[in-house]
Amino acid sequence: MTLEPCAHESARGPACTDLILGRRPARVVVGCLDPDPRTHGQGVARLRAAGIPVEVGPGQGQAERLIAGFRRRLTDGRPEVTLKIASSLDGCIALADGTSRWITGPDARAHAHLERARHDAILVGSGTLTADDPALDVRLPGLEDRTPQPYVVSRTWTAIPARLSGRAARAARVLDGTDLPAALRELADAGVNRLLVEGGAGLARALVAADLVDRLLWYQAPILLGAGLPALGDIGLTDLADAHGRWTCLQRRTLGQDHLAVFARTR
Ligand SMILES: NC(=O)c1ccc[n+]([C@@H]2O[C@H](COP(=O)([O-])OP(=O)(O)OC[C@H]3O[C@@H](n4cnc5c(N)ncnc54)[C@H](OP(=O)(O)O)[C@@H]3O)[C@@H](O)[C@H]2O)c1
Repeated sequence: MTLEPCAHESARGPACTDLILGRRPARVVVGCLDPDPRTHGQGVARLRAAGIPVEVGPGQGQAERLIAGFRRRLTDGRPEVTLKIASSLDGCIALADGTSRWITGPDARAHAHLERARHDAILVGSGTLTADDPALDVRLPGLEDRTPQPYVVSRTWTAIPARLSGRAARAARVLDGTDLPAALRELADAGVNRLLVEGGAGLARALVAADLVDRLLWYQAPILLGAGLPALGDIGLTDLADAHGRWTCLQRRTLGQDHLAVFARTR
């Protein structure tokens, strides 16, 4: 199992540890311990106490990666936040007139759809909803039902303007952007472990400036946009030394003509 079996009952049903004890397997292999204090270590302890050998740790790195959002929600009361950016080589996410369809090619966009399917919710700023009226759905065969719940953050909207008719506009819930940490707490309270932020520049800037981004998915196309819209804008940096050491590259890959680099916030 990826995660230690829970030792506590919850709204979802009986404790997994009790179910496993009822079946008495010859051996249990667990990737990592449950960070939930109601279980942490007790699932393993109860299985061992009942004479079932338990091995903890094979594939621990991968298991920890898989539960990172769950851990973040438990420890920080907010989802793991992944910021997705599709930029030109010179770091622009749109032309100066706001046009951004499309920066990257079909392979990168298909990969981005797979990333959507891996998240519980998608967040965009009101500027992106207004400019693009996007669908924000998963359009990969067989994964269409994995489209995450869309949210839009605004400091002024109480509802989505009626003129917007895209799928996201019809399905989105509005979050109050005056207090971003509170908006993220609201998502965590709704059970969101993994949040994918799909822009635009204003929201990305605010989240990075508040140090609320855990992962960066940076798709880069081999194009130059010159006087386009910068990916981030002012993030409050005054000393170049402070920019270093904040991001660790986890992966680089080629997707058609484009490149994807995945970074984790070094904490
Ligand atoms: N290539 C890409 O990866 C990509 C992705 C997405 C978008 N885009 C492009 O980016 C452009 C839109 O970017 P944008 O910067 O104009 O819009 P945005 O970041 O999507 O939205 C900015 C708006 O969000 C609202 N907001 C709510 N809380 C906020 C907070 N705490 N901090 C900052 N803003 C907050 C504000 O409007 P109110 O409070 O007034 O509602 C603000 O004007 C479009 O051209 C779009 O096509 C590109």
